[in-house]
Amino acid sequence: MTNFDYFLWVIVPYLSLTIFVVGHIHRYNKDQMGWSAKSSEFIQKDNLLRWGSNLFHYGVIFVFFGHVAGVLIPKGFYDVIGVTEEMYHFGATWFGGAAGIAMVIGGALLTIRRLNSARLKRNSSPIDLIVLLILGVVTVVGFTNTVGYTATGGTFDYRTTIGPWFRGILTLRPSPELVMNAPLGFQLHILAAFILFAIWPYTRLVHVWSLPLEYLTRKYIVFRKMNPKKAMEFAENTERKN
Ligand code: HEM
Repeated sequence: MTNFDYFLWVIVPYLSLTIFVVGHIHRYNKDQMGWSAKSSEFIQKDNLLRWGSNLFHYGVIFVFFGHVAGVLIPKGFYDVIGVTEEMYHFGATWFGGAAGIAMVIGGALLTIRRLNSARLKRNSSPIDLIVLLILGVVTVVGFTNTVGYTATGGTFDYRTTIGPWFRGILTLRPSPELVMNAPLGFQLHILAAFILFAIWPYTRLVHVWSLPLEYLTRKYIVFRKMNPKKAMEFAENTERKN
């Protein structure tokens, strides 16, 4: 193993994850007003946003659980509960593939929308475009791996290489030798993901941690269309009473 391998598969991950954690704490303390998804719906509400946003967000939720299933949960666990290689492979190909397609198409629609509208471009900062670009690289390269290896019978098994390496990073027992000979596509996917984690706290991606869960339990707020004539009468009556 060279120093460069050690740098890529030990130093880079820890550097990125440290910036991820410390960066979030720092931004939360310094910039709560800017902590937002910076939704552009009020600037331009269109079909590209409706389709792009839904496809991308539903895709990302499934891809997240796919990564938990394929990278965080050890292969041995599936052996114990009776999930065979074929069953896992079926799920990874069809569910992982569908989620990947949703992310790729949704991300493409959102990028096209942002780049084709003068108003949106004027309201986008450089970091908005950088985050789209890096998300695009992570997503497209990840999806290429699913199609090129998992779905088409490639021989590389990420559950016995990338999986244990990533868990080793999280449990402070790094084993770079497990990933340094992985196919280039997987390596690029992972390195791009670490770049994404490092810039995450300084982008609109922080909205991921601010799910409006209280919406599930709060009381309804009823909005009604305003009738201008009635509103006028109401205002005049109230004024007269006062
Ligand atoms: C260091 C962190 C990451 C690791 C170790 C990792 C690993 C992997 C692996 C092994 C696959 C192939 C899955 C398969 O073929 O069954 C994959 C696919 C994929 N990854 Fe990642 N990934 C990481 C981060 C990310 C991030 C941050 C995103 C998106 C924001 C992402 C998006 C995708 C997508 C879209 C696919 C293809 C669809 C799928 O199989 O679910 N990955 N990743």
